[in-house]
This record gives sequence, C-alpha cells and structure tokens, in this order.
Amino acid sequence: MILRPATTSDLDRLRHWDSQPHVAGASGSDDAFDWAAELPRRLAWRELLIAETEGRALGVIQIIDPAEEETHYWGEVEAGLRAIDIWIGEAADLGRGYGTEMMRLALARCFADPSVTAVLVDPLARNTRAHRFYERLGFWRVARRRFGADDCFVYRLERPRAPSGA
Ligand SMILES: CC(C)(COP(=O)(O)OP(=O)(O)OC[C@H]1O[C@@H](n2cnc3c(N)ncnc32)[C@H](O)[C@@H]1OP(=O)(O)O)[C@@H](O)C(=O)NCCC(=O)NCCS
Repeated sequence: MILRPATTSDLDRLRHWDSQPHVAGASGSDDAFDWAAELPRRLAWRELLIAETEGRALGVIQIIDPAEEETHYWGEVEAGLRAIDIWIGEAADLGRGYGTEMMRLALARCFADPSVTAVLVDPLARNTRAHRFYERLGFWRVARRRFGADDCFVYRLERPRAPSGA
C-alpha cells in the first residue's frame, strides 16, 4: 500500500465515495468537502492523501496541523499535534485490514516529523466501530466534545517512546 497526494484527477472518485452511505454516515454535519475547490490547493498545514493498493485507489486520509488549520476547527490547541481523518471509499473494502494499514502509514508519516508529539482523531460519538478501530491502534479517548453540531469523542495517540537504551 502507498499513500499519494490527491490531485484534481481524483475529483469524481472522491465525490462518488462521499455519496456512499458508510461514508456519509460517519461524516459530521460540517465535514463536507468542496473537492473541486480543495483539490488544487497546496497548503503547508494539510496533506490530502489517497491510499492505493496494487494501483487501486481505496481510501482517503487527511492530515492537518490543527494549530495552523485555517478554520480553527480544533480551537486553541498546542503546537506539535496532527489530526487525521480517514475513510474507505467502497463498502466492499471495509473490515479487510486496509484502514489499519492506512493508519499505520499515516502515523509513521506524522511522527517522522520530530516536532510532532501526538496525533488526534475525532470520530462521532455514535461511530462505535471507529472507536474500536482507533483503540486497537493505541489511541486513548481523552474528551467528549461538540464540534459545530456534531457530538464527538476526541482520541489521542502520543508519540511512541524510543526503546530504552536508544
Ligand atoms: C474506520 C475505517 C477507516 C476502518 O477501516 P477498515 O479497513 O474498515 O478497518 P480494518 O479492517 O483495518 O479493521 C476492522 C475494524 O474497523 C472498524 N470498521 C469496520 N467496518 C467499519 C465501518 N463500516 N464503519 C466504521 N468502522 C468500521 C471496526 O473497528 C472493525 O473491527 P470490528 O469488526 O471488530 O468492529 C473504515 O471502516 C471506514 O472508512 N469507515 C467509514 C468511515 C469512518 O467511520 N471513518 C472514521 C471517521 S472518524
């Protein structure tokens, strides 16, 4: 699997994925992307990535620096954090381990920057399967928080500690 930058050639694919019930059902009311506007933008505080396996696009990861993100969605947050959004496009690709592999690649990418201390995610409070998914990856629930109209849990994963003696 690889993560590659999303480009304008992904426009139709991303719109199609947004229309899938499992994607729409996991999205908050404020989360709709205007893909035609967003895909051409190159921003220092955001990476929009497509996961591909054997050349086939199967999901999306957004990584932001929540302190720098332009709408201040996360409010006042410390520096040195990243926040991740993830979804798999087609229902047939759910529950097959792809999401776990995507998160492992995304987390490695976040922590490759030595200034990053922790990663946040904000699943809807009702998205219990996503909670289990993040908990298995080592995230801890740290808050229940309303983002706009959405009732969410905030999960946090600290930078893995270097093995002792390193
Ligand atoms: C959450 C998600 C990225 C996980 O990827 P995945 O490839 O399905 O997950 P994996 O196969 O690696 O791991 C399996 C676990 O993923 C989660 N999962 C599986 N299907 C899911 C679904 N339809 N919705 C939410 N989580 C799901 C569950 O925790 C599952 O374990 P379980 O069967 O014990 O409940 C993916 O399911 C998805 O895109 N869901 C819809 C969008 C979403 O909820 N995104 C997260 C919003 S914060």
